[in-house]
Amino acid sequence: MAHILRLSALAVLLLSACCWADSELQEEDTAEELSVSELSVSELSVSELLERANSHLSEFRSDNDPILIEGDIAIDSEAERNADPCTSSGCKWGKASDGKVYVPYYITNHFSSREAAIITRGLESFSSFSCIRFRPTQSSDRDWLSIESQNGCYSFVGRRGGKQVVSLARSGCLYHGTVQHELLHALGFNHEQTRSDRDNHIKVLLQNVVSGMEHNFRKIATLNQGSPYDYNSVMQYHRYAFSKNNQPTMVPIPNPNVSFGNAKEMSRNDIARLNTLYKC
Ligand SMILES: *[C@@H]1O[C@H](CO)[C@@H](O)[C@H](O)[C@H]1NC(C)=O
Ligand SMILES: [Zn+2]
Repeated sequence: MAHILRLSALAVLLLSACCWADSELQEEDTAEELSVSELSVSELSVSELLERANSHLSEFRSDNDPILIEGDIAIDSEAERNADPCTSSGCKWGKASDGKVYVPYYITNHFSSREAAIITRGLESFSSFSCIRFRPTQSSDRDWLSIESQNGCYSFVGRRGGKQVVSLARSGCLYHGTVQHELLHALGFNHEQTRSDRDNHIKVLLQNVVSGMEHNFRKIATLNQGSPYDYNSVMQYHRYAFSKNNQPTMVPIPNPNVSFGNAKEMSRNDIARLNTLYKC
């Protein structure tokens, strides 16, 4: 059903693209870059965008790239697979005396001004609903995010100490919701479907998961902050994530028809648990 809806949405987009093209293309040169395929991509959820952007990574990755688990979480070594998934206070970013949590960032020159603006909008969105303040690095900063266009969309979980890369590849990662998703990882959050209480809310169908990808559905002690399980979290993967056979890898409990994993930006629960974790 979702696929049919998406196809008809695409048809509408194609039609409108054809008939409004003249007036839109005159606006500015970036309008030309806004191809039909890009318009249809805007229909995708964050979780679909991430899967799409990272699906062919293994072919291009080098030894310098970090190991990725759960699709887009970076770790430095195999030993880290089972390590503390950022539940100790040491992986939080510190709070300043004014009550704000300043997180220094540096955006590398990999990006066009249009792309940098998408990143900046994602960074600044946190100021509107939390005490998190992403701000440009200063020489005295010890810990900071280096926002780069590397292979795919990924981030480490929580503050790592020193420089840590948040990769937002120019091809595929530059959307408001994907920027928020990766920044939430950097702030300490994991995926919704890995919550220790997830079995009460989703049934994982390992028989439909790509062989070798089962670890993506492990359960860990995530930073739930007393918040309810949230199907609309920007950290919740979609029904067919890592599917090998176009069959669902997750179905909701108790009603399997409930839609989930469709978030295009942070949900109210995402915001609430961020504010709870950082005592905003
Ligand atoms: C889910 O959808 C199917 C097919 O439309 C329907 O037969 C079934 O009753 C629905 N289940 C619930 C719990 O709504
Ligand atoms: Zn992720």
